[in-house]
Amino acid sequence: MAETTTKAVDLRDSGGLPSHTYAFYALRDLHPGEVRELLCPEDPAVLMQSVNLQLRNRLYWAVVRAGPPLWRLRVQLREDLPAASLTDLLTRDHARLDRLLACALRLANRNQLTEAEPAVGELSRAVRRHIRVENEILAPVFSAPRNLLGNDPTSIMLREHEQILEQLSLIESCIAGGAETRSNTTPLLALLSGAMAKHEHREEQNLFPNWNRALALGTDADGTAAFLRRVQSALADRETTEEDH
Ligand SMILES: [Fe+2]
Ligand SMILES: [Fe+2]
Repeated sequence: MAETTTKAVDLRDSGGLPSHTYAFYALRDLHPGEVRELLCPEDPAVLMQSVNLQLRNRLYWAVVRAGPPLWRLRVQLREDLPAASLTDLLTRDHARLDRLLACALRLANRNQLTEAEPAVGELSRAVRRHIRVENEILAPVFSAPRNLLGNDPTSIMLREHEQILEQLSLIESCIAGGAETRSNTTPLLALLSGAMAKHEHREEQNLFPNWNRALALGTDADGTAAFLRRVQSALADRETTEEDH
């Protein structure tokens, strides 16, 4: 992605605000393609870890020049960088889905259901795309052993995908319905939020490490990079072929 902006933020100009708060406000609205140059009068390691945690690990930073007396950092969104691994790529997409769901839920909680409707639409498209990638690209490639009881990680993932898709369809029909039906949107979004959090955690713990290992064993660095590009394009709804690169 092309870089669009480089803006300097000097923590010495915080106007009495704690450095952490000033940095948080300066970095929370960072957009894709944007870069902030951060000037820190103290070692920024702890401060950046803390701000990044608040921003759900969306940030990537590099120390351009180390202090004392002044540290100069280059900060951008992690999503602007090529994924370091399959786990990294999928975990980033989980975080994106969580943000879309939080946005829809925030609007619904305020009873702004007209504004929530496009947010639900965007969420639905992104979740369906993510599930399609996991079901149709990743699960077939990394066919892990399944068991008859259906409690292996792949079977659990596929079953939970069905449940999530059913929940999504119900939410879509509620928010598109009359006033009485619409009022069910908020509790259903809250239920989906809980289901998604558990599902994503299970995948990140039980499934993605296995897929990562299988990918590393199955191909070399170039093959891995090409596969990650394919998955990234599919998650962004831009299916590519090897000829595109
Ligand atoms: Fe999933
Ligand atoms: Fe997932």
